[in-house]
Amino acid sequence: MATSKTIAVILFLITLVKSSNAAENATTQPLAPAILIFGDSTVDTGNNNYHANANFKANHIPYGVDLPGKVASGRFSNGKLYCDIVASKLHIKELIPPFLQPNLSDAEIATGVSFASAGSGFDDQTMLLTKAIPVSHQPTMFKSYIERLKGIVGEKKAMEIINGAIVMVSAGTNDFILNYYDFPTRRLEYPQVSDYQDFVLKRLDKFVKELYNLGCRKMSVGGLSPIGCLPIQITSKLTRGISRRCINSENKDAVLYNEKLQKLLPTIEASLPGSKILYANVYDPMMDMIKHPAKYGFKETRKGCCGTGVLETSDMCNSGSKLCSNHSEYMFFDSIHPSLATYTHLAGSSAYSTISKLLDA
Ligand SMILES: *[C@@H]1O[C@H](CO)[C@@H](O)[C@H](O)[C@H]1NC(C)=O
Ligand SMILES: *[C@@H]1O[C@H](CO)[C@@H](O)[C@H](O)[C@H]1NC(C)=O
Ligand SMILES: *[C@@H]1O[C@H](CO)[C@@H](O)[C@H](O)[C@H]1NC(C)=O
Repeated sequence: MATSKTIAVILFLITLVKSSNAAENATTQPLAPAILIFGDSTVDTGNNNYHANANFKANHIPYGVDLPGKVASGRFSNGKLYCDIVASKLHIKELIPPFLQPNLSDAEIATGVSFASAGSGFDDQTMLLTKAIPVSHQPTMFKSYIERLKGIVGEKKAMEIINGAIVMVSAGTNDFILNYYDFPTRRLEYPQVSDYQDFVLKRLDKFVKELYNLGCRKMSVGGLSPIGCLPIQITSKLTRGISRRCINSENKDAVLYNEKLQKLLPTIEASLPGSKILYANVYDPMMDMIKHPAKYGFKETRKGCCGTGVLETSDMCNSGSKLCSNHSEYMFFDSIHPSLATYTHLAGSSAYSTISKLLDA
């Protein structure tokens, strides 16, 4: 008797046969077996929609207006996220599903998911405010993913997939914005931002090693963006009569953190045989967009397309917010998150070279 499980396995096998046909075509062959994503809203493809407590959910319009079907999938942008674009460039799939989505197919599991949660950070204290799934809890989700994957493809093949998967880690911004700059909880404990950076990086170090112990080998770890240029940060220091401008001290802090991260990752890599752990530079490409907006077709880099960053009770983006007419002219879609245009430019910038280097490893 054909149970639904048997049917699912058959469908999955058909998918495998199809993709091995595709493998004959060099241009469409997947460049990695799977893609696995950990972190915050920059890479949360919808987990928070299924995480009841989460304070930040992009489950309403105008989020997703430029996705196929204009669905508010939980992505904090108007369209695909950077990680989706990477998955597409690697010929893996067009959209990376969130692990918490209840009806994930076996084929979706086999090619990778996102464990990220909007509002998350490396510092567990950040989640007191956002109720997101902490980065430190995401390996636990990953463990249940591995169990399911083993059930689908068997133990040996499951480990091959995970060893070969492209892993992207993107978090840290919330720790600094929500725990240090705008709500200075951690500042009492760490008066010097450099000391708080070291604390966050220690957590990152532990996290990356945990992923390695679970089988990840090819990892890209994102640095901080120019935090001082996020519209929410510009708004937080806005003085009446003075035009909107980036907060240089916060950008300097981000540069310092990124320098430390770039020194840390090779030492982690050296301690984990067979690993390739690379720094993903988002700071410089984003700074270039801010300094040379015309090069990218941007007319606005200091306000979000949605909610337009005006100093009101909040500059969150919701269904009643004002929306800019041409989404591609805005670097940010809301007061924190890059627009699809920015993510697309990032995928065409030096930021993407990290991924190519992982493929060669
Ligand atoms: C390979 O893929 C490209 C792009 O999808 C397509 O144009 C081409 O016809 C394919 N070639 C073969 C031999 O299937
Ligand atoms: C899973 O559920 C979502 C939301 O209900 C739906 O949009 C999607 O099409 C479903 N996917 C599958 C493979 O059934
Ligand atoms: C929207 O902006 C982009 C980027 O500046 C530009 O290429 C495009 O032509 C614009 N579209 C319209 C309809 O004005």
